[in-house]
Amino acid sequence: MTLQDSLRTNAQDVEHMLDRLLVAGDGPEARVVEAMRYGTLNGGKRIRPFLVVHGAALFNATPTGALRTAAAIEMVHSYSLIHDDLPAMDDDDLRRGRPTTHIRYDEATAILAGDALQALAFEVLARPETHSDPGVRAELVVALAAASGAEGMVGGQMIDLWAEEHDLDIATITRLQRMKTGALIRFSCEAGALLGKAPEAARQSLTAYAHDLGLAFQIADDLLDETGDEAAMGKRAHKDADKGKATFVSLLGVERAREQASLLADQAAAHLDSFGDKAAPLRDLARYVVERRS
Ligand code: IPE
Ligand code: IPE
Ligand code: MG
Ligand code: MG
Ligand code: MG
Repeated sequence: MTLQDSLRTNAQDVEHMLDRLLVAGDGPEARVVEAMRYGTLNGGKRIRPFLVVHGAALFNATPTGALRTAAAIEMVHSYSLIHDDLPAMDDDDLRRGRPTTHIRYDEATAILAGDALQALAFEVLARPETHSDPGVRAELVVALAAASGAEGMVGGQMIDLWAEEHDLDIATITRLQRMKTGALIRFSCEAGALLGKAPEAARQSLTAYAHDLGLAFQIADDLLDETGDEAAMGKRAHKDADKGKATFVSLLGVERAREQASLLADQAAAHLDSFGDKAAPLRDLARYVVERRS
């Protein structure tokens, strides 16, 4: 199976799970669930779910647990995008090829939809269907909380806003990106190891892969912002430069940023050598992450 095929199959599986987990009831509160569905079931690349599922497969974890965990991380990621697009943050009107959630609904509904997606993600992880061992479920909850909060994604978003007003050096931008984007990617890789109770050495290899992959991923995102095509990306381009945001591209220039991303992708793949052929999908993903057009 080509990487494109396995990305598509995996996306379908996780969307099916998201569809089952996001059920709108009756009453006026159904509007928030509709907005949660709108912000989630809308054609993202589903890279984080791919990492969870293919990481879990390395350790023979159960497919249902992997898919529920994949749905949970995609909920947190989609919540982060819904909030990232709000006028108070990046003020974007296009996401995954469609109007952003606050444009389609309204700002208050978009805020609530993000809040509820985050809560639901933790509920999904904590329920027994995700893993028979309550200790594993607790580990997943702790890991996702650490990746999402002030020391992870949210903290990174805070530095990212600060970067609009301040010049950042390469070390601070690296830290920003590791928190803003790297933390959820790292969780996605660690989750497979947690679900499969992987030995420590294997866990460390996956973490090292995630570390380099996450940075490569965000450099590619910054390059796409500078050089990408809005129609292909399904989101606005040139936002970072317009806002005067310090990124790898603003600091290194396009060529050096491209080289750096490519180097990191190779380095990420090399961390998986000990897994042999079983890790081919994860190795292919590292290349895709830096060569993608969307
Ligand atoms: C975009 O993430 C936001 C960043 C963290 C850079 P993705 O490029 O994974 O977005 P989707 O999920 O495919 O829309
Ligand atoms: C957003 O980063 C990352 C998170 C939502 C945590 P960006 O602002 O660069 O993402 P895009 O470019 O809008 O997708
Ligand atoms: Mg942003
Ligand atoms: Mg943004
Ligand atoms: Mg961006």
